[in-house]
Amino acid sequence: MLDRSNELNAWDRDHFFHPSTHMGTHARGESPNRTISTGEGVYITDTNGKRSLDAFAGLYCVNVGYGRQEIADAIAAQAKELAYYHAYVGHGTDASIRLAKMIIDRAPKGMSRVYFGLSGSDANETNIKLIWYYNNVLGRPEKKKIISRWRGYHGSGIMTGSLTGLELFHNAFDLPRAPILHTEAPYYFRRADRSLTEEQFSQFCADKLEEMILAEGPETVAAFIGEPILGTGGIVPPPAGYWEKIQAVLRKYDVLLVADEVVTGFGRLGTMFGSDHYGIKPDLITIAKGLTSAYAPLSGVIVSDKVWQVLVQGSDKLGSLGHGWTYSAHPICAAAGVANLELIDKLDLVTNARETGLYFRTELAKALADHPNVGDVRGDGMLAAVEFVADKADCVFFDPARKVGPQIATALAERGVIGRAMPQGDILGFAPPLCLTKEEADIVVDKTTDAVKTVFANL
Ligand SMILES: Cc1ncc(COP(=O)(O)O)c(C=O)c1O
Repeated sequence: MLDRSNELNAWDRDHFFHPSTHMGTHARGESPNRTISTGEGVYITDTNGKRSLDAFAGLYCVNVGYGRQEIADAIAAQAKELAYYHAYVGHGTDASIRLAKMIIDRAPKGMSRVYFGLSGSDANETNIKLIWYYNNVLGRPEKKKIISRWRGYHGSGIMTGSLTGLELFHNAFDLPRAPILHTEAPYYFRRADRSLTEEQFSQFCADKLEEMILAEGPETVAAFIGEPILGTGGIVPPPAGYWEKIQAVLRKYDVLLVADEVVTGFGRLGTMFGSDHYGIKPDLITIAKGLTSAYAPLSGVIVSDKVWQVLVQGSDKLGSLGHGWTYSAHPICAAAGVANLELIDKLDLVTNARETGLYFRTELAKALADHPNVGDVRGDGMLAAVEFVADKADCVFFDPARKVGPQIATALAERGVIGRAMPQGDILGFAPPLCLTKEEADIVVDKTTDAVKTVFANL
């Protein structure tokens, strides 16, 4: 029965339509809810006074940690000085212009302009439109298909939810929509042919991509989109040689490459961008989360010089770009972005993501790799995952109905640490704030080990 003695709890159950939530159990009070009130460093505290180490940085976004005065001050100062002006028809603000320059200074080589949005989803929506516009300007109206990957995550709009390659985001929404296609996930641990080496599996993925492009007709395939490391699909680093082989195929058929760096942008892999980390040379880059560390909603598309030149030709032919959001380059969000990037530099958080991330993953593997139900401990930079299996020798997975991953995430939360049960498979994911210390990493490892042992002992 719903506890109505607590007003806030009752209003939450009665009126708040939560994203990515079981609507029935939440409304009926059958599943737990939690009201978060404060955050400091890597910790959050709820209205019951329970403090948790947030080893997923919200939704892998609070990269500088909670409670940073510098960003709060920048937001307050901007709100007082100029809360809003739009960015249409050549308008800007000190913060939005400064932030565009700071992003390009940090971006991989060959990047030219930043188009600002508010979420990773809308930035990928912008990508799709720019890709179509690009090919129309080039006189190739049939070159419009976009290839994404199974297990990729690129948002949950109509087109971006179509790009996403996870069943949960398609079921009963009539997605995916044309002209979106999905190719093999670069998921070595779950490869069908267990005899393949990593390099051979990468070649297999590249061959599958090439087969798809040839079957569809290269003149119809506009772009390929991928996260440098699969995120929501399971936190899966690319197998050896993957990006090199994929990019060779894309170049052969003149297919644009979109690197979705919503998770990896601004330091998470121990380099400013994941593209630099894995030798990816993208034509477009999606950014969001780490751009402001979620102190304010802001996203962007970083456009390469190659694409920019064609867009300019488009305006010269067709007039102004018919694409904009009221809140594109919102000054309060841009001010948060400037302060956030300054803080990342000042605290050298990219180096910490690399060094403490390595320590964290090494300790996690030491503690858990030998457990009979742990099939894989993996990650890169400040991203890690533990994948659970029913049978290690034959790599047999659990029936999803048993909810092994969610049970472990719940047991971990009870021990005061937040990890994330990834949506497809029994995978416990970690994406702590980039400021995590080794002592904090030890806490996450200890509590995870205890949670895993307890859940399997009782299963
Ligand atoms: C790689 C990637 N792209 C896009 C998105 C969508 O971002 P948003 O939830 O801000 O729309 C996400 C969100 O997790 C993401 O991980």
